[in-house]
Amino acid sequence: MSIGNRIQTFEDARQLARGYLPWMVFDYIDGAAGEEVGERLNRETIRTLRLQPRILNDVEHRDLKMHILGQETGIPFGICPMGMCNLARPGADLMLARLAAKHGIPHGVSTAASTSLERMSETAEGNAWFQLYFNGNQEASLDLLKRAEVAGYKTLILTVDVPEVGHRPRELRRGFRAPFKIGPSQFIDFTLHPRWSLGTLFNGAPELANFSGDQGTFDRHANRAGADWSLLNWLRDVWKGHFVVKGVLDVEDATRLQAAGVDGIIVSSHGGRQLDSVPPPILALRAIRVALGDKYPLFYDSGIRCGEDIVKAYAMGADYVFVGRALLFAMAAGGEAGLARMVELMAKQVSITLAQMGLSRISDIPALK
Ligand SMILES: Cc1cc2nc3c(=O)[nH]c(=O)nc-3n(C[C@H](O)[C@H](O)[C@H](O)COP(=O)(O)O)c2cc1C
Repeated sequence: MSIGNRIQTFEDARQLARGYLPWMVFDYIDGAAGEEVGERLNRETIRTLRLQPRILNDVEHRDLKMHILGQETGIPFGICPMGMCNLARPGADLMLARLAAKHGIPHGVSTAASTSLERMSETAEGNAWFQLYFNGNQEASLDLLKRAEVAGYKTLILTVDVPEVGHRPRELRRGFRAPFKIGPSQFIDFTLHPRWSLGTLFNGAPELANFSGDQGTFDRHANRAGADWSLLNWLRDVWKGHFVVKGVLDVEDATRLQAAGVDGIIVSSHGGRQLDSVPPPILALRAIRVALGDKYPLFYDSGIRCGEDIVKAYAMGADYVFVGRALLFAMAAGGEAGLARMVELMAKQVSITLAQMGLSRISDIPALK
């Protein structure tokens, strides 16, 4: 059966990925903070939102194009920044970059990417956004920003919801580390997942590619807790392009970011990976939209699993939506063909959903209260 037939839902891709990936990598991608209640609650909240069907509106020609920070995008969802994507499948980072180039969609390139930010920018053909993790050292951050500027990045995402890496029991139980070390339990794990292990052996273990040679180091658990509003203002001044802040869930914080001259906010719970008791970000999105008004660029990620979810995020106030785990699982399930299938599926679902709602464009989606 072709990958196109096998992936009809997010869960199909997740189950195929589960068979291919070592437990350690599957749990790194799939896992969340604590008991994972926050992650589930958000998805359940999205699921309970209802969309209103309308009839006889002539929806024969539907348009999925969008505009975001001066860029036209071919489909209404982009790629979340994710560290160590090549763990999902060798070459995954570049598959995502080619996807961004093909559809003209924003592609968050993580500080902790497994391919260098320069190569990602080139491959994504101007669609890559650089995502910065502040590591407590302004000089090191400045070096990264200079590299990003030279590489042609026009948009910076500052992720602010990781003062400390969240407590993620599934990662800890599996001994997940970046770069990873092979102990006895990983040896058994890798032996039981030979397709992944041979592919990874053949292509070389993924590394933190922005920190090779004399380019400094990246400590995933570095203490970022010292970051404050003066850091925000400093970054706003030194970065000349668009400046987007990711990981915001509070109306007061959002209002302050808007006042500080930030160009856009990504409302996100980091996919539930940081604080288990977090309120559902899909509800925070609505509250922040109301507070910031209709014109302010507001983006959303967390818990998006299908096209109807994407439409719901727009109905809750997003100007653009980003997808994370679904893309990693799609690549683990079927490489670049799996990724293309997942994206085609989600775009098709968005289009069908619009048709059911009697709408022809994303911008026509009515607000959900
Ligand atoms: C494996 C993995 C790695 C991630 N790495 C980063 C990262 O390096 N930087 C970042 O800002 N967010 C990171 N995130 C969070 C995503 O950008 C995004 O907020 C989240 O995945 C969205 O939720 P979803 O996976 O349910 O779509 C990561 C998420 C996953 C699943």
